[in-house]
Amino acid sequence: MSAAHPAPGALFDAVTLGYLVVESARLDDWRQFGEDALGMELAHRDAHTLALRMDRHQRRLIVQAGPGEDVLAIGWQLRDQAALDEVLARLRRRGIAVSAASAEQARTRGVAGYWQCTGPKGLGIELFTTPLLNEAPLRMRTSAFVTGQSGMGHVAITSRRPEAMLAFWHDIFDARHSDDIVAHISGLTLDIRFLRLNPRHHSIAVACTRGRRMDPIRTRIQHFNVQAATLDDLSAAYVRCRQLGYPIVLGMGQHTNDKELSFYVRSPSGFEIEYGWQPIQVDEQAWQPSIHQGISIWGHRPQQQTLGDKLGEMGRALRSLVGREFMPNGF
Ligand SMILES: [Fe+2]
Repeated sequence: MSAAHPAPGALFDAVTLGYLVVESARLDDWRQFGEDALGMELAHRDAHTLALRMDRHQRRLIVQAGPGEDVLAIGWQLRDQAALDEVLARLRRRGIAVSAASAEQARTRGVAGYWQCTGPKGLGIELFTTPLLNEAPLRMRTSAFVTGQSGMGHVAITSRRPEAMLAFWHDIFDARHSDDIVAHISGLTLDIRFLRLNPRHHSIAVACTRGRRMDPIRTRIQHFNVQAATLDDLSAAYVRCRQLGYPIVLGMGQHTNDKELSFYVRSPSGFEIEYGWQPIQVDEQAWQPSIHQGISIWGHRPQQQTLGDKLGEMGRALRSLVGREFMPNGF
C-alpha cells in the first residue's frame, strides 16, 4: 500500500487534538482563567489574541477577540504529510470545501501551516502536521499536562444528529468506538458515545438525548478536557479555580468508563473545562466496548447551577427542536 493511499483504518493513531481556538470578548478574564486558574503559561497577548501553552507547543489554547463566546475551531495534528493528504482527499471526495490558511493565520495558531473546513455543528476543523515549538522551560502554576501521543485532551459535543456526527469522525479520522454511557440528567436520558483517535481513551465524546433530540447547550462544545500530570496538580487546580471564583459546575468525581478523576469548571465563554487526572489508556489488543450506567462511579455532584442556568438550558433545548444542526456535505 503506497503512502498516498493508506488502507482503510490507517489513520487511527495518526491524529491528536492539537489546539483549541476560542472567540471571546473577555480576553482579560481568559488570561486570568488560563494562567492563574488552569495553570497554563501565557505565551502571547495583544489586543486581538491571547495564547497559552501547556507543553513544548508554542500555543495550545488560543483566544481571539470577538463577540462569539464559543469555540471556533479545533486544530487536529496529523502524524505526517501522508496522513494529512489522506484526510484532505477524504474530505474532497465528499465535496467538503477545504482551504489553506494564510501564513498569518498559521502564526496565530502556532503551527507552520494548516488546512481548514467547517465540521459538524459548524465547528471549524483545522488540520496541521507541524507545530511551532518553544523549548524554553515552562513557567506554569502546575507541574505539567499530559499531552504528547494522546494530544492535549478531549472534547465533548452535544448533537441532535449523532449518527451523522459519529460517521464524520469514523470516516474522516478512522475513530474507534471506545464505549458508551447512559446518563439520566435533569429528567432526560442521554446516550453518550466515546471515540478514540489514539491511545487516549477518547478524544471526542458525542452526547444526544434519547427519544426527541434536543440540544440544551449554547456552545459548539459542552466541555473541553485537559489532563493534569499528578494528583497534586489536580487538587491545586481545584483550589485555584475556587479561590478565584470560577464556578465549579461538577465537583470532584470519577468517571465510570475511563476512570478519570476530575472536576468541571465554567470557562469565561460559558463552555466547561474538565480538569482531570489519570484516565486509563486503551489496550488495542484486549479492549471490548461496553455500556456504563451513569457518568460517575462517585462524586461529580452538580454545584453552583442557578435556576437561571436551568431555565436557560430548557429554553435552548426547546428552541433547538426547530432548525437543523449543520453537518458537512455527505453526512
Ligand atoms: Fe470529559
